[in-house]
Amino acid sequence: MLFQDQVRRTVAFIQEKWGNAQPAPIGIVLGTGLGSTADFLQECEEVEYSKLPGFPCSSVQSHASKLLRGLAGNRTILALSGRPHLYEGLSAREACFGIRVLGELGVRTLVLTNAAGALNPRYETGSLMLLSDHINLTGQSPLTGQNNEDWGDRFPDMSRTYSAKLRELALELALKMGIRMEHGVYAQVCGPQLETPAETRMIRMLGADAVGMSTALEAICARHMGMDVLAFSCLTNKNLPDCMAETTHAEVVDVASKATGNLARLLTAILPIMEQPA
Ligand code: HPA
Repeated sequence: MLFQDQVRRTVAFIQEKWGNAQPAPIGIVLGTGLGSTADFLQECEEVEYSKLPGFPCSSVQSHASKLLRGLAGNRTILALSGRPHLYEGLSAREACFGIRVLGELGVRTLVLTNAAGALNPRYETGSLMLLSDHINLTGQSPLTGQNNEDWGDRFPDMSRTYSAKLRELALELALKMGIRMEHGVYAQVCGPQLETPAETRMIRMLGADAVGMSTALEAICARHMGMDVLAFSCLTNKNLPDCMAETTHAEVVDVASKATGNLARLLTAILPIMEQPA
């Protein structure tokens, strides 16, 4: 079966379950430890990925694996709570299956969240970083293979991956709400191993402020479909090549879970007022 047909089969299943009368123009992906951020959704319905035909499921325990539909203000939001990753053995295209599903369900604006290691020495553990750009260091692309012209161009532009307007709105709200918000460049690696000091030094030298294992590929996929993208990293650990502290996955999950309060407050404020792309 063609990849786009697999996506459409999942979409048809969801539409049959939930009906497709209510348009859901906004989507969000909740990353590692951020699943409980879904508290910002009211009247939430959910379906496990494992119940969705063809949907890749995450094997990592700290990752919830369900699609949510709920309200923020009077807007319907679709949320992917948990995401599959390359390190589970998926191709980039498969890892972005959920983004394609959201696009087919009518999502025009996508908010991506993740846990990431801070590379910028000025950025503190537990703070949030707004992504201004990314570096895809995975050597892979979700656009590899035959292009589906219904989704987007063969060679999509990436000069403005993260919407300047939405970033401005997020910064303005964060300032008003007293939430510390860093901004910077996110580098995506394949993982699952964390970086060595030499790799950390290299990635910082390339111009990244944070490093993680998910978001660049999803942003590429979303931009391919013409969505506006806004993305936040929760900085769960600090990676300084000259004094590398040991990092455990448990710590990453713990810090991300503690930082969800501010992210949830910000999402509650921003989701109902985000402008849609033309
Ligand atoms: N490196 C890569 N991915 C991560 C890290 C990190 O230090 N922290 C959380 N996700």
